[in-house]
Amino acid sequence: MTKTGHADIVAAADPSARLGAQGRTMGWGNRVGPLNHLAEERERLAALTWERFEVVRVGATLGAEVRGLTLARPLDEATIDELRRALFAYKVLFFRDQPLTADQHVAFASRFGELEIHPFIPSNTGTPELVRFEKTAEVGGYENIWHHDVTWRERPSMGAVLHAIEVPPVGGDTLFCDMHAAYEGLSDDVKGRVAGLHARHDFLRAFGANLTEAQKAEMRARYPVVEHPVVVSHDVTGRSLLYVNRVFTTGIVELAAEESEELLEQLCRQADLPEYQVRFHWEPDSVAFWDNRAVQHYATSDYWPERRVMERASIIGARPAA
Ligand code: SIN
Repeated sequence: MTKTGHADIVAAADPSARLGAQGRTMGWGNRVGPLNHLAEERERLAALTWERFEVVRVGATLGAEVRGLTLARPLDEATIDELRRALFAYKVLFFRDQPLTADQHVAFASRFGELEIHPFIPSNTGTPELVRFEKTAEVGGYENIWHHDVTWRERPSMGAVLHAIEVPPVGGDTLFCDMHAAYEGLSDDVKGRVAGLHARHDFLRAFGANLTEAQKAEMRARYPVVEHPVVVSHDVTGRSLLYVNRVFTTGIVELAAEESEELLEQLCRQADLPEYQVRFHWEPDSVAFWDNRAVQHYATSDYWPERRVMERASIIGARPAA
């Protein structure tokens, strides 16, 4: 008989006891556990303090609920500065109970920079700075794929403020993934392989289906395929971020098609690890404000045929650089 007292049980220790803190890698060479590279960032975030609002952390290295602010009111410059620092620290901020008119939404987001106009997603409010995602029985959610927003632009957005107007009774959560943690989780070998590489980003796969050939040609002239480094440095924090995604990234410039596809798949798979993610459950008038370089996001599509209506303001960023 073993210690556990059942004849069928041979276990004397947890199967990972031998591995300790060394962790384990899977077939594709990336670490799977324990993901101990997260510890330093977790500790850093635990030590932060804020004067103008309260913060309740939600995920290990990303995600924090900010309490004590009313976004509909004009906030003073010191509060905006502190929010900016909180955004870069936690990568995505969440707010509850923030009824916002379209004008108030635009006014809040504009405090962080110039807002972009999205050429492919309608702004049904008549406020062109707000894209509107209005999902119904007839219009299904398709944003359930990991992506950064608008990496097909030369200057993709640095951040986005998403306001929930109508949410389904259950489901419709949005997930965010920390792309610095995802980069650091790559094996040294893969980090070496991706150093200095560039990727192509294109709007066509996501938005081409609704365009006529003439519109495609016109939009291609306005938005040529752009190249960004596969690993970018955050322009404020200086951190290395994995900057490829499954929606807009079509290939790696320096590699032949097959190798490019294999490497992209391996890099995109990093966002699938729950340890790098935080999941946000929406209520009416919840707001999420994410750093669009530091995180990717994924809007679950599990609520059809219910309605889910969201509006997003996006703040133009700098051209990504290595
Ligand atoms: C988006 O992809 O920006 C939309 C996210 C969401 O609807 O949760």
